Amino acid sequence: MGSRIVATGRALPRTAVSNQELQRFMDTSDEWIKSRTGIGTRYTLRSGESLAEIATAASRTAIDRAGIKATDLDAIIVGTVSSEYTFPSFACQIQTQLGVDSIPAFDVAAACSGFVYALSVADTSMRAGDFRRVLVVGADALSTFVDWTDRRTAVLFGDGAGAAVLVSEPGTRGVLASLLRSSGRHWELLSCRATGVRGTLDSEVRRESEDAIKMKGPELFKIAVKSMEEVCRQVAKRAGIELDDVSLVVGHQANRRIINAVAERLGVAFEKVFINVDRYGNTSAASVPIALDEAIEQGRVHDGDLVMLNACGGGLTWGANLLRW
Ligand SMILES: CC(C)(COP(=O)(O)OP(=O)(O)OC[C@H]1O[C@@H](n2cnc3c(N)ncnc32)[C@H](O)[C@@H]1OP(=O)(O)O)[C@@H](O)C(=O)NCCC(=O)NCCS
Repeated sequence: MGSRIVATGRALPRTAVSNQELQRFMDTSDEWIKSRTGIGTRYTLRSGESLAEIATAASRTAIDRAGIKATDLDAIIVGTVSSEYTFPSFACQIQTQLGVDSIPAFDVAAACSGFVYALSVADTSMRAGDFRRVLVVGADALSTFVDWTDRRTAVLFGDGAGAAVLVSEPGTRGVLASLLRSSGRHWELLSCRATGVRGTLDSEVRRESEDAIKMKGPELFKIAVKSMEEVCRQVAKRAGIELDDVSLVVGHQANRRIINAVAERLGVAFEKVFINVDRYGNTSAASVPIALDEAIEQGRVHDGDLVMLNACGGGLTWGANLLRW
């Protein structure tokens, strides 16, 4: 018995922020941001908005499209590092907003790799026979943790949520293999001391302090490319498939140059690579499920296709899932 994604959904904060708007209060330019990252705009969470409500909206879309009720779920697993509170978990907040009770609901903290990690955990539990229907969510609001005076990080991040419903079923479709990796010794390349998005938003603290996201961009760039290439090769090997047979790569949307460099090193044609970083920026754990949801909507995913998901983020963490659609 394996697991298969039967439906997805996505939701975003109300406010879109263009590069031109950033230019008004930051020493940056649309040309610099686009040429170094591929990002044109991103959505940012504002005071009065709730990331839990946004993640619940993405979840409801996935649940409706799956043709089930929230009460049919056996578990909720959320990849996030932006829980509104230090505790309860973000998954418990989504659970109560969905009107579900008693089933296990928990978070997986793997920064930008959160969805890839959560999907792997869900698949493994379903193979073990623990659950039959699982909601897997990726949701983050890293814009609430950036130091808006640090142009090296502030332009990169956006907020949002994506969700997928997995059902257990026999057969050859679904999650073929996953691989997760971490390297704690590189934690200082990307870190954030602050916790609890609710406190950050409501106190309207400008994150100019030690609490804000700290990143060593150029070092991270090199490791991200190398580790995502390696994990994609390894997961393909584990699943017993050739990379040439992959129909679509839906990777973490951190930077167009990173996505293209990984594809080039893997020898995957650019037309097989899904990119939407231009419209969302780096939404951390939300980026893979938002991209997958858009790829499906755009007719880029067909029955029988091999779809590669991959991500890399703070921890460092990285990983990949190979799916037969
Ligand atoms: C952050 C990143 C875009 C920076 O690009 P880069 O080409 O490495 O640029 P550098 O950091 O070397 O900076 C180059 C110059 O641009 C400047 N610069 C940095 N950010 C800028 C901005 N937003 N606008 C204008 N100029 C900027 C720097 O100050 C530097 O100028 P200097 O040489 O006069 O000091 C890139 O390193 C990156 O994407 N890294 C990975 C980050 C990431 O994906 N993190 C999340 C992983 S999950």
